[in-house]
Amino acid sequence: KKSVRDVEVTGKRVFVRVDFNVPLEDGKITDDTRIRETLPTIKYLVEKGAKVILASHMGRPKGEFVDSLRLTPAANRLSELLGKPVAKADEAIGDAVKAEIEKMNNGDILVLENVRFYPGEEKNDPELAKQFADLADLFVNDAFGAAHRAHASTEGIAHHLPAVSGLLMEKELDVLGKALTTPERPFTAIIGGSKVKDKIDVIDNLLNLADNVLIGGGLTYTFFKAQGHEIGKSLLDDSKLDVALGFIEKAKKLGKNFLLPEDIVITKEFSADAETRTVDIDQIPADWEGIDIGPKTRAKYAEVIKNSKLVVWNGPMGVFEIEPFSHGTREVAEACASTEGYTIIGGGDSAAAAEKFHLAEKMNHISTGGGASLEFMEGKELPGVVALNDK
Ligand code: 3PG
Repeated sequence: KKSVRDVEVTGKRVFVRVDFNVPLEDGKITDDTRIRETLPTIKYLVEKGAKVILASHMGRPKGEFVDSLRLTPAANRLSELLGKPVAKADEAIGDAVKAEIEKMNNGDILVLENVRFYPGEEKNDPELAKQFADLADLFVNDAFGAAHRAHASTEGIAHHLPAVSGLLMEKELDVLGKALTTPERPFTAIIGGSKVKDKIDVIDNLLNLADNVLIGGGLTYTFFKAQGHEIGKSLLDDSKLDVALGFIEKAKKLGKNFLLPEDIVITKEFSADAETRTVDIDQIPADWEGIDIGPKTRAKYAEVIKNSKLVVWNGPMGVFEIEPFSHGTREVAEACASTEGYTIIGGGDSAAAAEKFHLAEKMNHISTGGGASLEFMEGKELPGVVALNDK
């Protein structure tokens, strides 16, 4: 795939799809990582004298203009980070936007309004894709975080303009792609999170690729139940008991080291001041629920991580947002931070955990994609990437 470096951009109107879908609280951005990660592409285009037109979604406004989901805070933050004015349009298509672009000088930046204010965006309406394309001479996709969505501004537009990847997109595909195709070994995958059904494909694919697969989080209890253990009030995905057993079988057949927790932290109540106990997995009382991996498990997982050359982590080990239930996730994050192996954090909750424990800087790569990195690790093609052509 060609990147923005491979094409002429000077003086061109460049439509750059970014993922500025950042968390907001009362109109303030609480984590600007995604904006900072797109700076290399934006700076590159500015330095080359392109007219930089940025497009993104924010939240899920379902095709309507929602004031709290405008891209104004993101545009302001970008301007602060660049130390340079950034214009912001109130729409993403139409004559007013065209007029603003008309006035742009080389090196100027214009942020369009939230593309999901238009019903055609998520429907990948060819008409909307054409209207986006009409604004520019070149399409650059730097929105790795939205690459698993086949939407008008991620996929559709690529059929109307020369389309290349941005520098963040290129980095994400390069790091994740190399890890999965030519991994350094031992390769350890850590998979957590609450629901088995969300992680089936990723467990399946990583069982093929990794040497060690470590399991934690709420999805664990479906495995325990499938093995005939009492799991009390722990999370259960009743329809996935066979799938869970299937993974244990598959791991055996492939000779993979598939680890489930040996001990867990349990509680009676889902709150920070609730009583907790640590028990072996066959000792969960009927009215308690598992909430984190226990100390024996943490030590064992940390040891495996320490001895790995490559670690890919997706999904927390427990309810890390609540202090007494956070130790498993914290210790896994610490092990990832201190191992000499290359560590990749697959976006979303595990990235948030690394951030919360101030360990983000110590990881080798934290993906800006949540759903996108998950689909990538499932071995799926991302429509936003497939659509990039070599015109
Ligand atoms: C994300 O936050 O994972 C991306 O921005 C995609 O958002 P979406 O799940 O609303 O499509």
